Amino acid sequence: MKFFADTAAVDDIAELNSYGLLDGVTTNPSLIAKSGRQIKDVIAEICALVSGPVSAEVAAMDFDGMVREGEHLAGLADNVVIKLPLTLDGLKACRHFSQKGIRTNVTLCFSANQALLAAKAGATYVSPFIGRLDDINIDGMDIIRDIRTIFDNYALETDILAASIRSGNHVSQAALAGADVATCPAAVIKALVVHPLTDKGLAQFSADWQATGQSIL
Ligand code: G3P
Repeated sequence: MKFFADTAAVDDIAELNSYGLLDGVTTNPSLIAKSGRQIKDVIAEICALVSGPVSAEVAAMDFDGMVREGEHLAGLADNVVIKLPLTLDGLKACRHFSQKGIRTNVTLCFSANQALLAAKAGATYVSPFIGRLDDINIDGMDIIRDIRTIFDNYALETDILAASIRSGNHVSQAALAGADVATCPAAVIKALVVHPLTDKGLAQFSADWQATGQSIL
C-alpha cells in the first residue's frame, strides 16, 4: 500500500519525506486555506520536494471552469494530479484530462456506484472518504471493500485512494480491504510506528547495554 500525506503543510511533508515514508501528497481547498498560502506557491513547493503524485483540487463547479483551472494547476509541475469533485461536470472534466494523459483524482466519493462512475471516466485515483462516512454511522470500510470487488470484477485500473483517514486502525483496515493508497494526516502516519512494547523493549535493551560498559565503536 502506498502512503500519501493529506496536508498542505510543507514542513510536515519534508519531515515524512526524509524518513522515506512518502509516496505522494493530497491537498484540498480546506487544507490550502489552513496553510494560509497561495495554492500555486504551495503546490509548486510540494512538487519540488516530493517526486510522487501531488493532488491539487479545482475550485470551479462547472466543466469549463474545471478544465481551465485544471490545466493551470497541471502546468505547475509534472507530478501534479488534478483533483475533481464527484459530480457530472467533474466526471466530464475527468474524461477530458484522462484523454489528454493528465492524471486525475476524483474526490468526495461516498459510494461504490460513484467510484464506478469515476473509473468509467478514466480516473487515475478515486477517493472514498472513510472517516466522513463513519461520522454518519456508515462503515466507510464496507465501501472500500465493495469498490475493490467491483474494480476487480471488471479489471478497472483506477486506484482506490482511501481518504478521510483518522486513525491507524483506518490504515490497517483499508490495507486489508485492498485499497491501493491511504492518504493520511502526518500525525496518523507517524503514529503508526508507536507501540508500547517497542518502547518498553528498547528501554530494557538500553539499560542492559549500559550495564555492560561496552561500546560498539
Ligand atoms: O482530502 C480529502 C480527505 O482526506 C479529507 O479528510 O478528515 O477532512 O474528512 P477529512
